[in-house]
Amino acid sequence: MTERKSHIFAFGGGKGGIGKSFLSANIAASISKMGYRVALIDLDLGGANQHTFFGIDRPQKIIDDFIEHRVKKFSEILLNIPDYNIMLAAGIQNDLKATNFNIGQKARLFAAVKALDFDYIIIDIGAGMSISTLDTFNIAPNGVLITYPEPTALENCYKFLKSAFLRELRTRIKNKELKDFVDNIYDGKIIIPTGVKLFDYFNSIHTELANIAYTTARQHYYYLILNSASEHDLELLDHIPLAIKRFYGFNITPLGGILYDDKVRESIKKMRPYVELFPDSPTTLKIHEIASNIVNISKSLCYD
Ligand SMILES: Nc1ncnc2c1ncn2[C@@H]1O[C@H](COP(=O)(O)OP(=O)(O)OP(=O)(O)O)[C@@H](O)[C@H]1O
Ligand SMILES: [Mg+2]
Repeated sequence: MTERKSHIFAFGGGKGGIGKSFLSANIAASISKMGYRVALIDLDLGGANQHTFFGIDRPQKIIDDFIEHRVKKFSEILLNIPDYNIMLAAGIQNDLKATNFNIGQKARLFAAVKALDFDYIIIDIGAGMSISTLDTFNIAPNGVLITYPEPTALENCYKFLKSAFLRELRTRIKNKELKDFVDNIYDGKIIIPTGVKLFDYFNSIHTELANIAYTTARQHYYYLILNSASEHDLELLDHIPLAIKRFYGFNITPLGGILYDDKVRESIKKMRPYVELFPDSPTTLKIHEIASNIVNISKSLCYD
């Protein structure tokens, strides 16, 4: 019998306040209403707020309880979200504590998340491009990039993808010289010439490095959601993946575009999922469409 694996999707994008938490919460809600069992994991370590999207003021148990061994199993901190087929791992709101997690604590946490048995595991990650944030994004074989249409958000989105990839690549390289080389690209000490794709550059430097990079890329699927867009911006949904392909060589699947909508803030203030409060709005229909895209795409994915 083949081992059943959960589909793990992480929602990131580099910039703060671009809708990572709003979209991951509502997409999780939508997928759960299709009858799938969903785990929603708040890995915005230090700035967690997924519980608020579902009306939970103070979660009884949080990820911290697992990290500090107050519970034995990760499943013991999962909170049932009433009315949804979702179990929530509520996160930590103490930034100082979260940034001080050591490597061993993080490895144990990440392994526990990966070992969960659900149909879908949706991970909300924090803003920025710290190593910790990149590592949480890389837990998932499926990385959803969220961006606003503004050039600043797009810039961060490209940089985030490249940094997350390089970070993942370095963990797979044994050779010290090659590891240092990847670190130097990551740190900006080596600049890839303009117009040369990351993969072509690797190929021109070292075949072994290029091979590891291709394998890493094959084992990660990247997606894009354009958020808070105007009708006019929606054409970017296809343009951004083409630009990323041209400049870096990554394949990105567009999942959908969400328009700017004042009711988003209203739903957050009411601490209820948007899709529940405004079931017939165009934003809800779009969220359902994105959730369906995720489910349909997942059917053909295989994870090594
Ligand atoms: N489509 C939208 N239309 C209007 N406002 C939106 C939309 N999406 C998100 N917002 C606004 O952006 C704010 C930030 O959203 P959210 O908290 O999901 O972002 P985030 O990327 O998770 O932020 P952080 O990086 O701080 O974790 C929300 O409070 C909401 O007001
Ligand atoms: Mg957030």
